[in-house]
Amino acid sequence: MAAQPITSFKGEVPAADASRFHIAKESMATIVIFGATGDLAGRKLIPAIYNLWTGGFLPERIAVVGVARRDKPENEFRSDMCEALKKFSRTGHGDDDACTPFVSNIFYHALNFTSEDGYGGLAQRLADIEKQRGLPGHRLYYLATASEFFAHIIQCLGRGRMIHPDGDALRSRVVIEKPFGHDLASAQELNSQIRAVMAEDQIFRIDHYLGKETVQNILAFRFGNSIFEPLFNQKYVDHVQITVAETVGMEGRRGEFYDKTGALRDVVQNHALQLLSIVAMEPPATFNAKETRDEKLKVLNSVDLPDGPVGEWAVRGQYTEGPGIKGYLSEDGVAPDSTTETYAALRLYIDNWRWAGVPFLIRTGKQLKARMTEIAIQFKQPPTHYFKRLGVELPQANTLVFRIQPDEAISLSFSAKPPGMDFQLQPVDMDFNYGRTFQRELSEAYERLLLDALRGDSTLFMRSDEVESAWRIVSGVHEAWKDQGVELYRPGTWGPSAANNLIDTCEGKWRNP
Ligand code: BG6
Repeated sequence: MAAQPITSFKGEVPAADASRFHIAKESMATIVIFGATGDLAGRKLIPAIYNLWTGGFLPERIAVVGVARRDKPENEFRSDMCEALKKFSRTGHGDDDACTPFVSNIFYHALNFTSEDGYGGLAQRLADIEKQRGLPGHRLYYLATASEFFAHIIQCLGRGRMIHPDGDALRSRVVIEKPFGHDLASAQELNSQIRAVMAEDQIFRIDHYLGKETVQNILAFRFGNSIFEPLFNQKYVDHVQITVAETVGMEGRRGEFYDKTGALRDVVQNHALQLLSIVAMEPPATFNAKETRDEKLKVLNSVDLPDGPVGEWAVRGQYTEGPGIKGYLSEDGVAPDSTTETYAALRLYIDNWRWAGVPFLIRTGKQLKARMTEIAIQFKQPPTHYFKRLGVELPQANTLVFRIQPDEAISLSFSAKPPGMDFQLQPVDMDFNYGRTFQRELSEAYERLLLDALRGDSTLFMRSDEVESAWRIVSGVHEAWKDQGVELYRPGTWGPSAANNLIDTCEGKWRNP
């Protein structure tokens, strides 16, 4: 029987306090976006900067310099960004009049960033803009290009003296998008190339999941309350399910990138393993970058791939065509005989005292039945069944769910007796819904992360050792998969049925709403 909500928590909503996070003019960095004509800049980065600016977090005069290969008049770039704001900003900006004051902060510089020649021109242009805007010359470079350019761009910025050493009066930081490498060896190489130019403290490897409010709320829930944390261990937890399910496919534009990447690299290496490390980590002594990331790293380093045939612990799938939906192999940019996975499911173990023997089930996929990102902690059944002599069946054991998307919530299911003379047990839910309780629009992950990068707080960014540890796991799965075929699944389903084998020794099933 479906669980019924019976209660909801009420929250005290603290007044918004932008002032503590406001960046003063003398600390404000010029934001330089490489790959500024690409999707990410228009959909996420410019809207995030706009919302930070209108929200009072940034000084009035800023400079955002878009760098891309194509020649483009600055005005055209500004009006493209206005259009992007109309479509993608969570606050929108209504009309062009409202956009004008903001886009006067935006500049465009054409640069073939694969050659070194133009970097001198870029240095001069940035210095001119900073002089004109009265900005001090701190820099935040944002690499939103294809990943093969990351090392080269950073090396050219270094040789062109556009990156100041760590500790210099003028600060330089670089935000690097995913994918950070293609496997363990390439990630290690990229890390060493970058660190030859700048210090780890200046590098911000972004995973936008870490900027999501409800992901941060997992830390608040675990370490800001006393009643749940004692239960987070192998004594009480049967298994943990981490699902990142999407209903979209290649969206007509991502086939080429995705076919070289696949679900494991695209989502498991970063988002899913970051969620796993947050839900499983020990409490850090302080919520700061070093200690938080040390604890997450310990979890990743303890992840074991199970022994035994790979089909028993890892499943790879690819969507076929469905009514009105192109099959993966017919998507633009996808090789007609591609075996790239659009779905991946894994059963992993964390070999430490807290979690030994507890399966962590991860799955992600495109063209699935529902868009849903959640972590479900499935607790064990009670050690003895007090009601069994009455012939009463136990419902599913307690489940604690952190729902990250689409409706952010935390819920806990437990058994209750429905009214009546008969004694039965029925699952009910305690539900905390973020939107209903706080009645405030959530900021976008990129807003939070850009502000943190501007302020120099790397707690919610991935450190080099974390990235490499996650690649160790993913490269191990790729290795195990090398002779394994891909299972087909129909769009609008929950993926290949073979994934059910991963959970069949656990309490309950995959949570498929
Ligand atoms: C990105 C992946 O990192 O995350 C995409 O490249 C995926 O394939 C996206 O769609 C999911 O992010 P969100 O925030 O929509 O869950």
